[in-house]
Amino acid sequence: MGWQLQSVPELDDDQFERWCVLLESRIGMQVAPHQRSFLQIQIARRVRELKFTGFDEYFDYIQKGIPGLMEWRQLIDRLVVRETSFFREPDSLEFVCSELRRRMAERSLEGGFDVWSLGCATGEEPYSLAMELNNCFEASGLAPQFSITASDVSQQALQQAKEAVYSSRKLEKISQENIQRYFSEIEPGFWQVDSGLQQRICFTAINLLDLAKVPMVPMDIIYCQNVLIYFRRWRRREILDELVTRLKPGGILVIGMGELVDWSSSLVTRVADNRVQAYLRCE
Ligand SMILES: C[S@@+](CC[C@H](N)C(=O)[O-])C[C@H]1O[C@@H](n2cnc3c(N)ncnc32)[C@H](O)[C@@H]1O
Repeated sequence: MGWQLQSVPELDDDQFERWCVLLESRIGMQVAPHQRSFLQIQIARRVRELKFTGFDEYFDYIQKGIPGLMEWRQLIDRLVVRETSFFREPDSLEFVCSELRRRMAERSLEGGFDVWSLGCATGEEPYSLAMELNNCFEASGLAPQFSITASDVSQQALQQAKEAVYSSRKLEKISQENIQRYFSEIEPGFWQVDSGLQQRICFTAINLLDLAKVPMVPMDIIYCQNVLIYFRRWRRREILDELVTRLKPGGILVIGMGELVDWSSSLVTRVADNRVQAYLRCE
């Protein structure tokens, strides 16, 4: 018999532990003890919606075959923190633009400027990058030559990102010039990103724990903000070790300030700018 809304049993300690191990091993997510009830509510909701008899039956189901994989995707959409906003990290964004301007001045932009936004959530981050980069190209009088790959583990977030529709409230941090230039109001209170800007971005599902298996072209910029904080430190190091191999010589990895302070790699040197945490790949 399916569960009734008012009679959700609690995850016992063993069940809680098993879910924590599964989530951490598959997507690196750590569930703190104070998040136990959040986890329980989300899992219980799926158990009820799918009419399973309890947590254990659902736990077994989610690990088997294609239906299990599809259900897993639905569940993680409900569990991951997707908080984001346009122009969220102004110093990191400005740093990327200054790097682009430097290369334009040096005329070293052969093959264009390739950027990867990891953990892009619902798209505000890559669209902010795209607006800024496009503005830089326009200001310099050069034809825009850049592309952005934007990835996330949440399929639902990526779907929203591809739709590129945001409420007026979401646009609060965007300048009027950028709104007029890059958005159209498609219904009262809802704005869509200009299709030209959308075409600059390729959204794709990538789990940061599977980076080693992912083929990517070498990048000029790898932009990873407010994502590493959700992982254990040893995993953050592994992820960064892998990411720096994906940079072009002279490419730059930009992470969130303080997201990992004690990391270094023989492939990169820290950029001497204390407003950002960035690493330059040696030539
Ligand atoms: C707090 S949001 C940050 C969004 C954006 N980077 C920003 O700074 O506004 C974290 C994002 O990381 C994604 N994420 C969490 N675990 C991930 C994983 N294992 N692989 C890829 N993305 C992951 C989440 O789905 C979420 O969209």
